[in-house]
Amino acid sequence: MRKNIAVLPGDGIGPEVIKEAVKVMTAIAEKFSHDFTFNYGDIGAVSIDNHGIPLTASTITLCEEADAILFGAIGDPKYDNDPNAKVRPEQGLLGLRKSLGLFANIRPVTVYESLIHRSPLRADIIKGVDFVVYRELTGGIYFGDKGRDETSAYDHCVYTAEEIDRISIMAFKAAASRNKKVTLVDKANVLETSRLWRERVQEIAKSFPEVTVELMFVDNAAMQIIQNPSNFDVVLTENMFGDILSDAASVIPGSMGLLPSASIGLKTSLFEPIHGSYPQAAGKNIANPLATILSASMLLEQFDLFDEAQLIREIVNLSLTTSYVTPDIDPESTIGTTDIGDYIVKAIQENNNSPIAPLRSDSSL
Ligand code: IPM
Ligand code: MN
Repeated sequence: MRKNIAVLPGDGIGPEVIKEAVKVMTAIAEKFSHDFTFNYGDIGAVSIDNHGIPLTASTITLCEEADAILFGAIGDPKYDNDPNAKVRPEQGLLGLRKSLGLFANIRPVTVYESLIHRSPLRADIIKGVDFVVYRELTGGIYFGDKGRDETSAYDHCVYTAEEIDRISIMAFKAAASRNKKVTLVDKANVLETSRLWRERVQEIAKSFPEVTVELMFVDNAAMQIIQNPSNFDVVLTENMFGDILSDAASVIPGSMGLLPSASIGLKTSLFEPIHGSYPQAAGKNIANPLATILSASMLLEQFDLFDEAQLIREIVNLSLTTSYVTPDIDPESTIGTTDIGDYIVKAIQENNNSPIAPLRSDSSL
C-alpha cells in the first residue's frame, strides 16, 4: 500500500516522540511491503518561531494532500503565562481542527494488566476498564464568538443539531460494535446547548435499539470516571467536557504517556497522543513515545491495515509486560525515548507472524 503521511512534530517533546513513531511506521512498511512517504510541516510555537504564525497555509495544504496526519504536541510555557499574547501555539491545532473539519476526537482508555499496580487507583476499581471517549472537536465554547473589554470577557457556547448528530451517530455505531452503551455527558440542568444534545441523542438512539443510553451530568461523570470507570463503554460529550474528562481518564492506566487519539472528520484524519508538549522533559530522552506509537497504530487501522496495527499493540503490550518502560511508568527506569522505539522496531523486524502475547488478560486479577 502506498500512502502519504503528513508529520507535524510540533513543540516540546513532540519531535522526540514523533521520531520514534515514524521509526516504527517505517519498520512496519518494510515488514509488510508498504510504501509510506513522510512529509514534515511546522505547527505551534515552532511555526511561530519560523514563520510568525502558529499555522501556515503550506502546513494546511500539506495536511489536505496527505492520506493521514501524525501529530506530536503543541504548546510552549513562554506563551502560557502571558494573558495578552495575541499569537499562541494552540491556535495552530485549533485552526487545523477547524480547517480540516476534524469533528470527532476518539480517545480509547485501555488498562494494561501489567501496569495495574502503577495506577493511582485500586486494582479492583480499574479491573476490566475499557472505554472510549467520543469528544466533539470543532464546536462549543472553543469556537464560539469571543470577546473582551477592560473589565469583562465572554466565550459563547454554540452547537447545531447537525454538529451533534454527526458525532453522535459515530458514537452509537462504535457502541453497537462494543459493549452497547453510550453515556452522554452534559450539563443539561444548566446549559441550553446540553438540552439540545439530550434531545438529539435521544432521537438518534431510536435508530440503535440495541444500545443503552445513559444521561449523566458532567460533574457526576468526573467523579464516576475515577470511582467507577468500568461503568463506561462509549462516553459521548461536547468539546470542553471531553477535554477535561479525557485528562481525568488518563490517570486510570497509570500514565498519560500511554493514551493515543484519533481525530476524524471531513477530510484527512489526524492521529496524536493525548499528552501535551511536556516542556520540562524536552530534549532529555525521557518522554514516553508509546502514546504516539499507539496513535500510529490507530492511523494504520484507518488505512485498514489491521494486522500491522495489532502487531504494534501486541509489542507495546509486551514492552509493558517485561517492564521495558520510560521513567513516567517506573521512576527507577533509565530506559529512554529512543530505547523504546528501538525495542519496538526490533520486535517488528524479528516477528514471524506468531502471536506475541494477548493484549489483555484478566486472569491474574
Ligand atoms: C487537547 C489539548 C488542546 C485542547 C489544546 C492544546 C488546545 O488540550 O488536545 O486535549 O484543549 O483541545
Ligand atoms: Mn486537553
